[in-house]
Amino acid sequence: MKDSLFIKAAFSAQTERPPVWMMRQAGRFMPEYWEIKNKYSFLEMCKTPELAADVTMLPVNLLDIDAAILFSDILVTGEAMGGDLSFTQNVGPRFANPVRTQADIDNLNVDVIDKLQYVADAIKVIQQRLNGKIPLIGFAGAPFTVMSYLVEGGSSKDFKLTKLMLHNEPAMAHQLLAKIAKVTAAYLNLQIEAGVNAVQIFDSWAQALAWDDYKEFSHRYIQEIIANLDRKDIPVISFCKGSSVFAPLMAEAKPDVISIDWNVDLLDIKNRLPQGMAVQGNLDPHVLYAGKPVIKDRIHKLFERMRGEKGFIFNLGHGIMPDIPFDNVKYAVEVIKEYRY
Ligand code: CP3
Repeated sequence: MKDSLFIKAAFSAQTERPPVWMMRQAGRFMPEYWEIKNKYSFLEMCKTPELAADVTMLPVNLLDIDAAILFSDILVTGEAMGGDLSFTQNVGPRFANPVRTQADIDNLNVDVIDKLQYVADAIKVIQQRLNGKIPLIGFAGAPFTVMSYLVEGGSSKDFKLTKLMLHNEPAMAHQLLAKIAKVTAAYLNLQIEAGVNAVQIFDSWAQALAWDDYKEFSHRYIQEIIANLDRKDIPVISFCKGSSVFAPLMAEAKPDVISIDWNVDLLDIKNRLPQGMAVQGNLDPHVLYAGKPVIKDRIHKLFERMRGEKGFIFNLGHGIMPDIPFDNVKYAVEVIKEYRY
């Protein structure tokens, strides 16, 4: 895999064009996803290796992207620790037993890697199907983002209860975050052992945090996780919503790639990172709702800005929305694959 465009760019080697994959590429914007989803629940899909492989392969076969991402969810670590997780249409993820007291935190298990074995099984099936064509990215949620779901009991607009715990009960918050971080490092190592070619850590809701809180309650645990990875020769990608602000701090955790949201000029932020640290990003996913000339123009503008840079992977600043037209996503991939530096 070390000669693939994606791995080369992740390690800041020269490529003839930027490699492309898109966050949330294996999902609801594809009619073919619904054909599977209409028959099974989301968690059944994640936990049945053949189904997880079927969904992982959809964007590989339909979009011809340069990297596949494991079909799973960031919340499976929380479930393995004891969270009663469900996903409901139009509601999203829900933990029926939110973690809000010391007793709730004490009750969470950390010795749970056996419960996540289905992910290792899925990775093996996916790698057979990929057959060396493109790399497979594994992933996990960052402790702060997973904590927010455990504490709130689901998605939240303002993370009120989570931030209250950070501010009023910091010792408790640290215990919870440390438990999640321990499971997350073991979980990513399980994925590496099973054969993924890269890993990405998603801290989707870091942007809710003030700088000092990000440092104390998020960054610190990501740093610990990355330090505990059995990295071998696979790149580690760190993503957060808020990376346009936090990237220089994220770099201290020593990932190989930082995935950047769309609020910042990608070259400006890359220039503020250590030499040899790659960036991934950073098209506003809303551009994919727009007309094709706009899509092409915005991609070309980004690529012209990054011309001559080593260490650039094309991605969106956040995930594809479920109602983005499939045809627009396909067109964007074509525009990217035709481009030459
Ligand atoms: O990228 C991929 O296509 C691979 C699979 C993947 C999913 N979730 C599948 C999924 C990945 C990498 C994730 C990560 C994830 N999950 C994140 C981090 C990335 C981000 O978008 O910020 C977060 C915050 C979650 C939590 C989560 N899972 C939410 C909020 C929801 C519901 C709403 C939504 O945004 O999709 C899910 C459910 C989920 N995860 C679905 C899929 C395909 C939809 C399930 C369905 O079909 O109902």
